[in-house]
Amino acid sequence: MSLLPRGNKLSQSVVSASLRNGTRANVGARPLSWTPLRGVATATELTRFGQRYVNKGLSRLVEDVFDKGEGSWLTMKSGRRVLDFTCGIGVTNLGHCHPKVSKAAADQCMALVHGQCSVAYHEPYLNLIKRLLPMMPDPSLDSFFFWTSGSEAVEGALKMARSITHKQNIITMQGAYHGRTFGAMAVTKSKTIYSDGVAPLMPGVFTAPFPYWHHFSSSPSSSEERIRACLYQVELLLSQQSAPSDTAAILIEPVLGEGGYVPAPHTFLRGLREICNKHGILLIIDEVQSGFGRTGKNFNIEYSGVKPDIMTIAKGLANGFPLSGIVSRKELTDKLKPGSMGGTYAGNAVSCAAAIAVADAFKEEKILENVQARSKDLFDSLHALQRNAAIGPHILDIRGQGLMVAVEFASPSHSAYDPAVTTTAPEHLASRVSKRCLEKGMFLLTTSVYETVRFIPPLNISQEDLLKGCQIFAEAVEEVVKEG
Ligand SMILES: Cc1ncc(COP(=O)(O)O)c(C=O)c1O
Repeated sequence: MSLLPRGNKLSQSVVSASLRNGTRANVGARPLSWTPLRGVATATELTRFGQRYVNKGLSRLVEDVFDKGEGSWLTMKSGRRVLDFTCGIGVTNLGHCHPKVSKAAADQCMALVHGQCSVAYHEPYLNLIKRLLPMMPDPSLDSFFFWTSGSEAVEGALKMARSITHKQNIITMQGAYHGRTFGAMAVTKSKTIYSDGVAPLMPGVFTAPFPYWHHFSSSPSSSEERIRACLYQVELLLSQQSAPSDTAAILIEPVLGEGGYVPAPHTFLRGLREICNKHGILLIIDEVQSGFGRTGKNFNIEYSGVKPDIMTIAKGLANGFPLSGIVSRKELTDKLKPGSMGGTYAGNAVSCAAAIAVADAFKEEKILENVQARSKDLFDSLHALQRNAAIGPHILDIRGQGLMVAVEFASPSHSAYDPAVTTTAPEHLASRVSKRCLEKGMFLLTTSVYETVRFIPPLNISQEDLLKGCQIFAEAVEEVVKEG
């Protein structure tokens, strides 16, 4: 009797293919042959397999399969070589398979893979803290807990804030993204898709306005008046909806990520710090996407000089190995009960070893200097495109810092009340440009509910590759605008 799912044509054809190739279908442990994963299947067969067996809740930019990654480039199973301006959403900051990072992980694999953090310390964990201490935005951040994903780090930060302050409420920002687990989802306000239909969410969450011009029926400019209005709204929130005596923390990304790559103005961050100081509220800075050199400093919050009480980190920390962290002050974390924090895979030894190699590479390879230089190249190229008379009217805003940069296009369709709506603008410019870039050999992501694309190239990208990406983008925009 066949162990394959009945009537499953794909499974049958995969098995037939394996038999034709003289390989034996492994029908013991799993009801399907794993032959395709040994490299005999085509990209089309693999994607069809994925479409049938991978959870539909996962979406993707392209129906293809990664084969190899090297530096700024990815090779796909379809045979295409693609310039990666996504870095796996801000993760492979030192490029794919950085030799020193991969070697450090491989060496660690032969020494100790899983040193459970609730059983004993392991050296990579402690050595990583040693590397990170001098990189922190303030020396007061001296107490570390490593986890696996950014969402977990946010969950842990929320839990710590509640536990330390004995207060419940959290203030988050309009447009914020903090993850897809239940606590992180409750403080995410960038798109409804992340929590659509799964309420009730964690209670005690209040949303304050983030001073992004598009949220305010305004034009793309920074305005002190808007910043003051937003700070006033936070104060009003504390007097009308969530009393300071009930409010544990204000949580903010220093650059809205999934909300549109919008840097928080420094005066806004400083104002939040003052409000927190005044009311005994903790300030949690989420640097999961903006950290580790992405914006030209180790952490974006350094630009404002604001001291976080708790900071969450992940993504670029280990260049692709799953690792996140929550950093705070010893004086605060000493209030936690031993055993209240933990996790089976928390602070994995291989990921920590990779993160140590990342921190070393940052210094040895002068990564921050390259970010500054390539950022200038990127902005110069985008501003030149904006000066093109046929394109300029379609670009509303070019913004960002370092290599966390966005282009927002005009749109005819967001809302009838949106003053940035231009009835003559082409539809869906961001997703069409992203698709055209891919056709031309570059991955470029969109972001937010607005027509925005985001540039997240590797921090060590060469000038040649960066300019190639800029050229692909310019051609894609010109073509899509021309098509209307
Ligand atoms: C600012 C921020 N916080 C948290 C997260 C969640 O991280 P993860 O996807 O690793 O759970 C993300 C992910 O994009 C993020 O950008």
